[in-house]
Amino acid sequence: MRIGILGSGLMGSKLGVIFARAGHDVVFSYSRSQEKLQRLARDAGPNARAATPREAAEVADVLLLAVHWSNVGEVLQQAGDMSGKIIATCSLPMNDTDSALVIANTSSGAEELARKAPGAAVVSAFGSVPSEVLFAVFDARGSGARPSLVYCGEDERAKEIVAELIRDVGFDPVDAGPLRIARYIEPFTLLVAQLAYEGERGPALAYRFEWREETS
Ligand SMILES: NC(=O)c1ccc[n+]([C@@H]2O[C@H](COP(=O)([O-])OP(=O)(O)OC[C@H]3O[C@@H](n4cnc5c(N)ncnc54)[C@H](OP(=O)(O)O)[C@@H]3O)[C@@H](O)[C@H]2O)c1
Repeated sequence: MRIGILGSGLMGSKLGVIFARAGHDVVFSYSRSQEKLQRLARDAGPNARAATPREAAEVADVLLLAVHWSNVGEVLQQAGDMSGKIIATCSLPMNDTDSALVIANTSSGAEELARKAPGAAVVSAFGSVPSEVLFAVFDARGSGARPSLVYCGEDERAKEIVAELIRDVGFDPVDAGPLRIARYIEPFTLLVAQLAYEGERGPALAYRFEWREETS
C-alpha cells in the first residue's frame, strides 16, 4: 500500500516507520522541520520518503491523519482534494491544553473530519493507544495474544484496508461499527491516556477485549 502520513509527530512518525518496516510505501509529511521529515524517511528505509501534504495525498491510497485537532483545518487545506482517499484518523478532538474533548456525545472528531474532507472514506483507528506502546506491539506481533485495537467507519472496503494495517502493526482489529461509534472510542481513549500517563506502570499500555462463552 502507499501510505501518506499527515503529521509526523509521536504517532505519525512511529506508525510511518512501522508501516514501512511492514513493507508499505510511506510518505512522511507535515512537520515544522523538513530535516526531521527527511531523517525519518532515511531511518524508515528504502520504502519511505519525505514530501508535502499535497504530494502525500496525491500518491497515497491511505492517509494517516495524526495532527493536533487545532491543526486539522490547516493540514487538510495543504493536502488538497481528498475525495476517493481513505483517511485513517488517530486525531482526537482535544482542546489546546489537551485537557478535554471539544467534540463529544452528539458528534466526534472522526465525524467532523468526514464533513471536512468530503468524498474521503474516514476510518477512526490507532487513536486508542499511546504512541509509546506501538513499537513494543509491532516487535511482539509474532508471539502470544495480540492486543485489541478498535476501529470504526462507514465504508466497508476502507475498513478492511485499515484493518489490514492494524494487523500489520501487531494488533487484533476490532470492528466497532459505523463512524458515529467514534463518539464512544474517543472518550475511551482518555481512559487509556489516564492509565498510561497517570498510572504507575508507564505509558507503554495496550488493551485486549475477550469474548467468552456464557456459562450459567
Ligand atoms: N501521542 C499519543 O500517544 C497519541 C495517542 C492517541 C491519539 N493521539 C492523537 O493523535 C494526534 C497526533 O498526536 P501526536 O502526539 O502524534 O502529536 P505531535 O507529536 O504533536 O505531532 C503533530 C505533528 O504535527 C506537526 N505540526 C504541528 N504544527 C504544525 C505546523 N504549524 N506546521 C507543520 N506541521 C505542524 C508537528 O510538527 P513537528 O514535527 O515539527 O513537531 C508534528 O509532526 C493528536 O490528535 C492526538 O490527540 C496521540
